[in-house]
Amino acid sequence: MTDIDVLLQEHRKFPPPDAFARAANVSDPGIYERAAKDYEAFWAGCARELEWSKPFSRVLEWKPPRATWFRDGELNASVNCVDRHARGARRDKPALVWEGEPGDTLTLTYAQLLDQVCRFASVLDSLGVKKGDRVAIYLPMIPEAAIAMLGCARIGAVHSVVFGGFSAESLRDRIVDAQAKVLITADGGFRRGHVVPLKKNADDAIAETPTIEHVVVVRRTKEPIGGSPASMKAGRDQWWHDLMAKASASRPATAMNAEDILFTLYTSGTTGKPKGIVHTTGGYLTQCAYTTKAIFDLKEDDVYWCTADVGWVTGHTYIVYGPLANGATCLMYEGAPDWPAKDRFWELCEKYGVTIFYTAPTAIRAFMKWGAQHAKKHDLSKLRLLGSVGEPINPEAWMWYREHIGGDRCPIVDTWWQTETGATMISPLPGITKTTPGSATVAFPGIFAELLDNNAKRIDVGGGLLAITKPWPGMLRTIWGDDERYVRTYFSKWPGRPDLYFPGDGAKRDDDGYFWILGRVDDVLNVAGHRIGTMEVESALVDHPSVAEAAVVGKAHELKGQALAAFVTLREGTKPTTELNVELREHVANKIGAIAKPDDIIFSADLPKTRSGKIMRRLLRDIAEGRTLGDTTTLADPAVVAALRDQYEGLES
Ligand code: WT7
Repeated sequence: MTDIDVLLQEHRKFPPPDAFARAANVSDPGIYERAAKDYEAFWAGCARELEWSKPFSRVLEWKPPRATWFRDGELNASVNCVDRHARGARRDKPALVWEGEPGDTLTLTYAQLLDQVCRFASVLDSLGVKKGDRVAIYLPMIPEAAIAMLGCARIGAVHSVVFGGFSAESLRDRIVDAQAKVLITADGGFRRGHVVPLKKNADDAIAETPTIEHVVVVRRTKEPIGGSPASMKAGRDQWWHDLMAKASASRPATAMNAEDILFTLYTSGTTGKPKGIVHTTGGYLTQCAYTTKAIFDLKEDDVYWCTADVGWVTGHTYIVYGPLANGATCLMYEGAPDWPAKDRFWELCEKYGVTIFYTAPTAIRAFMKWGAQHAKKHDLSKLRLLGSVGEPINPEAWMWYREHIGGDRCPIVDTWWQTETGATMISPLPGITKTTPGSATVAFPGIFAELLDNNAKRIDVGGGLLAITKPWPGMLRTIWGDDERYVRTYFSKWPGRPDLYFPGDGAKRDDDGYFWILGRVDDVLNVAGHRIGTMEVESALVDHPSVAEAAVVGKAHELKGQALAAFVTLREGTKPTTELNVELREHVANKIGAIAKPDDIIFSADLPKTRSGKIMRRLLRDIAEGRTLGDTTTLADPAVVAALRDQYEGLES
């Protein structure tokens, strides 16, 4: 684990620049103590910054592992994100500034966004969608994605956004699990100059999803769908623009109880089936809005850009709900960072005068590799704050980001959180915290993070398991359709302590009490900022008729953080060929999506197993990363690993 040593030798500290600190939304370090003393009062104060149609009188009810926040209050997320701005001084302020990959653009002011959200809410009404019904959204990064989410929120329908890079099968599984009634998709989306055939994938998915009654299709690429326009299925499929044109632009928001579900979002776990993480309205929106204001220091004139996709939680919280709840101007970009050229992001920053920029370490490492000359071509002087999320950022990447993008003047906020936490949990406050490259620093005010050992004993300095020791407003409330798994996965790590949340990450704490997130301790990998369960990839491989058994492990990768290496045993009579190797990688892409394609596939007559038959992934990781093998004494057949290692080395050379 050389990475850990490197991190621990990191002592550079960057205090907030004076001018930044003076003007910051949050500048009083006393906030930490105040929030710690009475975290319920702290979060209630944050919640009161939202607009409630019925104020709450109760704050937290905590019967571990169940929490409710603001449970007798009523509010609507779309009102908080749109109406209250459109009603006032922000009426004509740009809410969403969008650019498509081909260079087409669209700006929606808060008033225009309200018109669109109301119309879409009316469309959902007309399709028979009721409060509590699930709506699946499978769209590219276009304004309609935000409009669809907010339209669902307006009527109390539960949105379930599925990342546009997922395959038809992944979409199908998520629709089936959520029992969604309506699917919102597009004819396609643009990615690196190609058209992603979303409608075709959607058609394949729906063929096996009995619950979908209606499909609303955004015309994005204007390419014929699946070869011919005829694949709009009569009675089921309708064009977005047709429905929106006829729809009423005044649709009052449905009052939602604070604990009514706002959305579900699927995320990878250690077993094959993705988990539908359930988020409710009041607590989620509170933490979402307040962390956006405090961590990104959002001011009236900022132009804020989060480069995530709305298909991930980052897009939910920090493209749609957080920034819009704060009345911000948000840039949204459809495509790839290197299309048509490697300076596309910096061109966008210059063109739109981006002041706050939030991206992932995997992107920063790619920018580093491409070279600083691409950023140098553009005027990035308006940038005043940089953010990072999704995986540990290595100190070199942090320093590069600071120097070449941030001009050595912008504070960097490295934000640790998860789909399950709803919003940021550990992060600097840019006007207060001295940052240090590679550390997400300290828990946000009102959030309680600790390092524990296996016996729930607190570790003050050193390595351990990250734990959240008190409930927080944005926490997941359950797993859709599998409440028992909620308890088992998140609140059973420390026996007899159902009050301790286990995020699944290991971390270190330094002498200053700063957290250094080290990554997942379970069989979940972080590939280019995407959480991928090894089990899901293994299931996809085993699904192929030639495969008998598969074990997938992560190996360090320069750009992606981690890459997948798959060890595959073939069925009797099947020959390991280069063609099969290619076919299996494609098979995984079709089953799950291209993000889950293994970099390496190693065919093996056997897999290293313990005598009880458990695959020894630790050894496979050693092999994949070219390390000396650890303890092999528990192996049933030690010859297996030696053979595998020889094979792997052959592959690398
Ligand atoms: C996992 C959550 C949070 C939105 C994007 C991913 C890793 C996330 C950081 C960070 C180190 C990080 C953790 C976490 N992670 N942010 N700043 N430093 N690791 O959401 O798909 O739910 O993944 O991403 O391992 O558990 P997600």
